[in-house]
Amino acid sequence: MGSFPSILLAQNSSSSPSGTDASYRVIPTPYTPQNGIQQNVSVYEPYRGNECHGYRAKNISESQKGITGILELIGSPCNAYGADYPYLFLNVTYETEERVHISIRDLNSSQFQFSKRHDVWQAPLYYASTSSLNKSNVFYEFSFNADPFEFWITRKTDGEVLFDTRGNHLVFEDQYIELTTNMVDDYNIYGLAETIHGFRLGNNLTRTFWNNDEASPLDRNMYGTHPYYLEQRYKPLNSSNFTNSNQTTYSSSSHGVLMLTANGMDVLLRPKYLQYRMIGGVIDLYVYSGSSSPKETTKQYIKSIGLPQMQQYWTLGYHMCRWGYQNITEIMRVRERMHNSSIPIETFWSDVDYMHNLRDFTVDPTSYPRDQFSQFFHEIESSHQHYIPIVDAGVYAANPTNRSDDTYGPFYEGFEKDLFLKNPDGSIYIGEVWPGFAVFPDFIHPNVQEYWKHGIQNLSYAFGSNSSNYIPFSGLWLDMNEPSSFCVGSCGSELVNWNPVHPPMMLPGESSSPVFVYPNISNPSNTTEFYSAYTAVLSQYHATATTSFQTVHSTPGPLGDKPNINHPPYAINQEQGNHDLANHGVSPNATHYDGTLRYNLFNVYGYTEGKVTHQALSELQPGRRPFILTRSNFVGTGTYAAVWLGDNHSNWPNMYFSIPGMLTYNMLGIPMVGADVCGFADNSNEELCARWMELGAFSPFYRNHNSQGSSLQEPYLWGSVAEASRRAMNIRYSLLPYWYTLLNQASSEGNTIVTPLFFEFPDEPHLAEADRQFMVGDALLVSPVLDPNTTKVNGVFPGNESTVWYDWYNHTAIEHKPYENKTMDAPLEHINVAIRGSKVIPMQQPAYTTEETRENPFNLLVALDKQGTARGSLYADDGVSVTPNATLWVDFSAKSNELSSVSFGNYNVRVPLANVTILGVSSSPKQVQFNNEAVMSYNYINETKELIITKLENFTSIGAFAKNWTVSW
Ligand code: NOJ
Repeated sequence: MGSFPSILLAQNSSSSPSGTDASYRVIPTPYTPQNGIQQNVSVYEPYRGNECHGYRAKNISESQKGITGILELIGSPCNAYGADYPYLFLNVTYETEERVHISIRDLNSSQFQFSKRHDVWQAPLYYASTSSLNKSNVFYEFSFNADPFEFWITRKTDGEVLFDTRGNHLVFEDQYIELTTNMVDDYNIYGLAETIHGFRLGNNLTRTFWNNDEASPLDRNMYGTHPYYLEQRYKPLNSSNFTNSNQTTYSSSSHGVLMLTANGMDVLLRPKYLQYRMIGGVIDLYVYSGSSSPKETTKQYIKSIGLPQMQQYWTLGYHMCRWGYQNITEIMRVRERMHNSSIPIETFWSDVDYMHNLRDFTVDPTSYPRDQFSQFFHEIESSHQHYIPIVDAGVYAANPTNRSDDTYGPFYEGFEKDLFLKNPDGSIYIGEVWPGFAVFPDFIHPNVQEYWKHGIQNLSYAFGSNSSNYIPFSGLWLDMNEPSSFCVGSCGSELVNWNPVHPPMMLPGESSSPVFVYPNISNPSNTTEFYSAYTAVLSQYHATATTSFQTVHSTPGPLGDKPNINHPPYAINQEQGNHDLANHGVSPNATHYDGTLRYNLFNVYGYTEGKVTHQALSELQPGRRPFILTRSNFVGTGTYAAVWLGDNHSNWPNMYFSIPGMLTYNMLGIPMVGADVCGFADNSNEELCARWMELGAFSPFYRNHNSQGSSLQEPYLWGSVAEASRRAMNIRYSLLPYWYTLLNQASSEGNTIVTPLFFEFPDEPHLAEADRQFMVGDALLVSPVLDPNTTKVNGVFPGNESTVWYDWYNHTAIEHKPYENKTMDAPLEHINVAIRGSKVIPMQQPAYTTEETRENPFNLLVALDKQGTARGSLYADDGVSVTPNATLWVDFSAKSNELSSVSFGNYNVRVPLANVTILGVSSSPKQVQFNNEAVMSYNYINETKELIITKLENFTSIGAFAKNWTVSW
């Protein structure tokens, strides 16, 4: 391999074509048919499991910690969609007070066991301490019938049956596993992401898990996999809390269920049952006994899969992105125009446009030249703004016959170190993405970490950094990491010397899609030095990889059948055309370094990329919280990254679906989430964009992004959008201390940041489906307009008659009745926000950036309930460090006409407290005091019943919360 060119950066090459102008790509994609082989989706075909009779339990041994036993197949093998295992091993473990783990696997462990691959995925649930637990002190009970084997799990406190396989046979075959639980009538379940659906999933849906690059397909598989659901149940009560009302009152409970696997599967939601149909792996089922509060159940789950990482403060600012900024000057112009329009912008994002020929870890020397970039970085850094570039999973496969490709280090380094996914025969898997034929890093390879870090470091140099300590970008955006590939299979295997082929869609700068020709691909030339070396190395790999492949797969099933990896006997309802599993993504038969098939780790690729990138950024910027935005994700991704909801469309339904999307990810431990505001594909319009900029300001992650070819949608382009953005951002930025506190509570306790109404009001069944409104934290209720041509919006104000809601803007108590769907005014530039009585909200005077906002004085908004009480809290630190030197936690509590602030920790916010506004004060106070000293500056407004206390700076000049204080009135 010594004769290979040394690893250099692409922009150092003098012979490369310049610019991202794709016209030098003379060869259109010579790909195999794009749609794969037609599969008949099994869920729509006659069911083949009728001859299956399940298993009987034998040799059961029960202890205080759980149950073990053998399951023996009843009758002859039914071979429904594979080969039945005659014996299985059952292991039930009481892992924590609230979580039980049911593991069922084949006796010889020849099936792939995801939960054994701690090198790939790890979570706190593997380290549960069972020492003090026993059968009698856990909150659930595991029961079973032996013949046929069926089990059910009951919550001890209320006798609710949480999971119940009675009457349903277990099927356990090499490529098909079926497990069914009975469900209560009209069950309410949430989760099972990722798909586009209302928040409540309903009782007639098939959820397919197969990570997939597709723009907003309704009810179909998308970029992420989370085989977890939360179930909420209601029970009518006799007594009524609603005085003067005939409404029935309810109690409620919730629990959670996780099926931990990265294999493909369908989950059938049907009126009477929920059925898992997995095409491989084993059963690793976790049931969380939950509680009367869905918030608590969610915490049980999130703590078990890994708390989300804490984000940096600035990530809460407004982000602006577009695929199609042709050069850095365009981005600089956006900066100027945002500023001139007084619309805050915190972070500039670059899509693939900045790359040289669309290749990872390179920067286009012509349209994004280094000197201009240095100026840009200098300017944004001095104004506390940020920049984030995209990185794609597919790395350009260098063309050995094209000398200008010799300098493409990211390919050669990975090639030399043997770090890319393989075909089953050991050759490198070559698919196709934006730059042409591309290879895919094996993110579970023990050496991939250094390689990826080196790529990121090189990217930093390519942007003009000349020090390993200085990374000019503030985070990374990981895209196409399902991973997506535009052809079926390893289409570039014999054609890499045709690169850069033109991908089968428009590239930036092109005005029309290329015309495709399907050339004869049977005789690619392979005469170069590189190609022969390449082939030699591949055959070497072939030998080793085949051996390990055989080790893993030599016993594919009990009947000795060869598994069909790309077209398994049970065809899941994969969304892509013809349902071929290899369509539009790297094939399931691609293999990892140790021979593990992607088939078994299919849904975890994006997760592993996030994990490796997180580690790389942690090493490159020690001590600083990495900011990563990833498209593909899996259970636990929140530990490493934020997520956006992928390619949506600029239309009203897609705007609505962003709410269930972000609520769902919040209950799955990925709280930093948001949609492409104003819509990605198609053209946005003024009304839609104005409404979406308003809604986006209440998403944890707030980024406007759109596709190349779509018309521009920066908020300054329309008067009303600019105004709507300014107003909504004014609220968002003034709430930054509140948002940051929510981030902290999410990362320390597993709280949600944006919250479904029923999480806060769990005993109101009418809220089970509410997803056109949502809460930010537990104090703010947001009721966005989600329809065109209207200046009204309907919404409910949950709680009973003693719950008070105040309007954000005019501070008056909102008149409402329980269950009433109230119509509110919503002029175009206005988003309805209500404050929940009983909450104290920390705020700061908003400025142009988050950093400048942090330099402004604090304000407190105290929304009293009918008893005159309110509580709230504040978390603060330096906003960037993984382990801050100092932290601050403040508890606010109001009662009996007194607000107290009690601080813990030694971080000093330095800026003073300016104002305290108290809503719901029944009469004008005789006097106002701060720590028993008279405050002269206050105003009581009788119409709104609010007391506005100002000029508190003198009392708090050493820092708003440096000392405990009380304000009384
Ligand atoms: C697909 C991503 O989802 C989208 O956000 C991005 O603009 C394009 N890839 C181009 O990189």
